[in-house]
Amino acid sequence: MIPVILSGGSGTRLWPLSRAKKPKQFLPLVNEKSMLQNTLLRLKGIDDLAAPLLVCNEDHRFMVAEQLRELNINDACIMLEPVGRNTAPAIAIAAIQAMQLLQEQQDPLLLVLAADHVIQDIPAFQQAVADARVAAEAGKLVTFGIVPDSAHTGYGYIRRTTEPLQQMPNTYQVAEFKEKPDKKTALHYLASGEYCWNSGMFMFKASSLLAELEKFAPDIVNACQQAVAAASRDLDFVRVGSAAFSASPADSLDYAVLEKSDNTVMVPLNAGWSDVGSYDALWEVMAKDAEGNACRGDVMLESTHNSYVNAEEKLVAVIGLNNVIVVETKDAVLVANKDDIQQVKNIVQRLQSYG
Ligand code: GDD
Ligand code: MG
Repeated sequence: MIPVILSGGSGTRLWPLSRAKKPKQFLPLVNEKSMLQNTLLRLKGIDDLAAPLLVCNEDHRFMVAEQLRELNINDACIMLEPVGRNTAPAIAIAAIQAMQLLQEQQDPLLLVLAADHVIQDIPAFQQAVADARVAAEAGKLVTFGIVPDSAHTGYGYIRRTTEPLQQMPNTYQVAEFKEKPDKKTALHYLASGEYCWNSGMFMFKASSLLAELEKFAPDIVNACQQAVAAASRDLDFVRVGSAAFSASPADSLDYAVLEKSDNTVMVPLNAGWSDVGSYDALWEVMAKDAEGNACRGDVMLESTHNSYVNAEEKLVAVIGLNNVIVVETKDAVLVANKDDIQQVKNIVQRLQSYG
């Protein structure tokens, strides 16, 4: 089985820590290792694991290589995208490349993971991976589902059958997949108790994925086949053909395939999963002091509660505030009410419009 690690996202809601040059997945947000490194470390102990295949943007290649070196991983394949085309093309080039990588195994299993998730219970995660394997070997596209605790509109929602499938441990047929519903729909899904969140982690055979993509998004497969055929090797990097890859339509796997395919199954995952999409989610998963504060760096607090304070460069002191986010970096400081933290995207948009 080849772990495919998607490392091409931008993580803009964690501004000012997460920047275009060094987005979220490369930052040490919850412990001293980066999110990408934690993703690789939690695979340790899984049976029959081949060297990882990473897919990232060209601009981040040396950072990825350096973070792998720090973990003594020196057999990874790092595929470089000239531009981001979202997850469907990223996974497609990985699947096409993977079919050429393992010579003794022409059609390897792929465990597709986002580089920027937190999973607290590693044995539970590894058990779910073991369960998923049976269905993936049988040609299914497996997604890992999370029991939802809010009507979050940034996730895919999965309605599954109530009874598990025969001969597939802990695996359920997906009856409906809805990517990023509107708030009203998400509230309805949550109240029904019938839906899980899509975790954004998947397992399938390379051939199963390419067959479904071919059915629903042949232009993506076509462009990605040409991009891999035109790839050049440069040190540890595989640089896909720029013109062909850039010509691929941009789409996520969720919209391109999962919403449409009837070959999808779900394995529930109860492992303290979070995609730490924003500072409030980061605060949730971090260790906290007796007052509920999660801090990093040189921080002093007085009469402060339930807050996230991150000091990168200077000493940061906070007095008499509750439920706040304070992030100090070399060139920007964010101070926000934790309940309003989603608005950080407005700031990022304004900054982008200034160029
Ligand atoms: N290589 C590469 N290229 N990676 C990418 C690209 C790309 O163009 N775009 C995104 N990624 C990576 C991100 O770094 C992240 O690790 C993963 O792919 C998922 O992308 P996101 O952009 O974070 O997706 P999302 O959060 O909107 O939605 C997905 O994840 C949710 C759970 O966190 C979907 O799968 C949802 O259905 C799911 O609920
Ligand atoms: Mg995400």
